Amino acid sequence: MKHNNFYITTPIYYPSGQPHMGHAYSSILADVFARFMRNDNYKVHFLTGTDEHGLKIQRAAEKAGLDPLIFCNKISKIFNDLTKKLNLSNDDFIRTTEKRHYRSVNDLWSRLVKSGDIYLSKYKGWYSVSDEAYYNENEIIEKNGKKVSTFSGSSVEWVEEESFFFKLSAWEKKLLDFYNKNDKFILPISRRNEVINFVKSGLKDLSVSRTSFTWGIKVPNNNKHVIYVWLDALTNYLSALNFPNTNDSLYKNFWPASLHVIGKDILRFHAIYWPAFLLAADIKPPNRVFGHGWILSGDEKMSKSKGNILNPLEIINTYGIDELRYYLMKEVSHGSDGNISLKGLENCINSDLANNYGNLCQRVFSFVKNNCKNKINKTNDISNSDKKLIDKTKLLTSNLRNEMNNQNLNNYIKSVINICFLTNKYINDEEPWKLKNTDIKKMNNILHLALEQIAKISIFFDPIIPNATTKVLDALNVKSQIRNLSFLDGNNIFNNEIKINDIEILFKKITQ
Ligand code: ME8
Ligand code: MG
Repeated sequence: MKHNNFYITTPIYYPSGQPHMGHAYSSILADVFARFMRNDNYKVHFLTGTDEHGLKIQRAAEKAGLDPLIFCNKISKIFNDLTKKLNLSNDDFIRTTEKRHYRSVNDLWSRLVKSGDIYLSKYKGWYSVSDEAYYNENEIIEKNGKKVSTFSGSSVEWVEEESFFFKLSAWEKKLLDFYNKNDKFILPISRRNEVINFVKSGLKDLSVSRTSFTWGIKVPNNNKHVIYVWLDALTNYLSALNFPNTNDSLYKNFWPASLHVIGKDILRFHAIYWPAFLLAADIKPPNRVFGHGWILSGDEKMSKSKGNILNPLEIINTYGIDELRYYLMKEVSHGSDGNISLKGLENCINSDLANNYGNLCQRVFSFVKNNCKNKINKTNDISNSDKKLIDKTKLLTSNLRNEMNNQNLNNYIKSVINICFLTNKYINDEEPWKLKNTDIKKMNNILHLALEQIAKISIFFDPIIPNATTKVLDALNVKSQIRNLSFLDGNNIFNNEIKINDIEILFKKITQ
């Protein structure tokens, strides 16, 4: 991975319907990595946006009775608003209907023509509009009288038309070499194996233009063909860095992308087609593609037709954004599919946020307010139990950077919540309230360590629940320059004196 600069992307969403929990999940996951890297002193560029061309959008616009661009303007705005509701820290929001994107797709296409990787022929085969994907005959079954893809379950239609092709078959061996040399290009490992097996089973040339509809970017110097929406969409990652201007500072600083966060359903496009296009165009492929699983509801994929959708906006209104972010990041096992429910959300809020992290902050802050006038000084004495807590915390934190750098967010959260638990236990065991009249010095030392722990935990949790941690770090008067992970290298957050401000309730316990 490149040092200092970190370019991270979410998938750009189809503005064909309302955003749902899967979209929220994918975006929040990327946001957590982006925020973590910023806190670890990387210069981060975080991109999201909307994927607006192709037959899927054209049909959705027709159904709504709108011109496709007017339709996209409307729905893209809903996705842009969602980034704010989800508290995403994205630096840019790209739309594939923007000029900068046309320029970049045109240039990439021309490079592929120049390298001899594109030729004209005829496509005859299956196409899923819902996935915007071509499927081989052996990937199709008949279900209830309809042909569907075995991969996604979406219905497919037969297509026969003149088309430009990309010589994907010529890249089979080079892709396998590339995966071999870059053993963390695809994470988690299970997904990597999936991709390698698919490539080994043989790649066919890919149809990269269509002639039977018009809503897309035209093939340069050709009025009949529009560019295949996936070749168009993937290029957004370059367009946002002002490609083809490779001298632009954004491009120079941030390409190749450090991490594309995507769902497993679009792994083939990102892990096979995308590096093949780039290698053919003599552009470096990204460093990593992380393919997360599906959000399920009652063991089923959430979908409109099944009526089991949890609406992210409703959840945010009822429970709060930090609560939703924490729940999705903690409870969904990011490599595989994750089941979510309201009950699960409420349990998670109570056990981790209200009773553990929230309670830790609340009890220490109110004790310091009521007994120490919001000010703590410590001495240099370290008791055995202090040392035990400090050492355990060190042990639990020693691998955190590594966990994040490998997108092992579940392990990361588990460790941090464990530190919360140990700190609460330390306070229970030490009973500082009993020392008020007997040993003020010791009482102060206990509270000082508790506040130091709270500050560290808050910095660790900051990428996940930034609203709450900002309140806590503000109330602790931790300067913004030191709200980063430099303490992992052995420093403490506080010197001798700590002054705090009052804090409001962070997380309300949910009662039935
Ligand atoms: O695929 N659980 O857009 P999209 C988890 N435009 N993730 C889910 C999900 C669920 N139930 N449902 C959807 C596209 N997602 C393309 C991307 S990138 C150049 C183009 C995830 O709006 C899905 O896996 O259909 C994908 O990563 C993202 O939401 C966008 O889905
Ligand atoms: Mg989709």
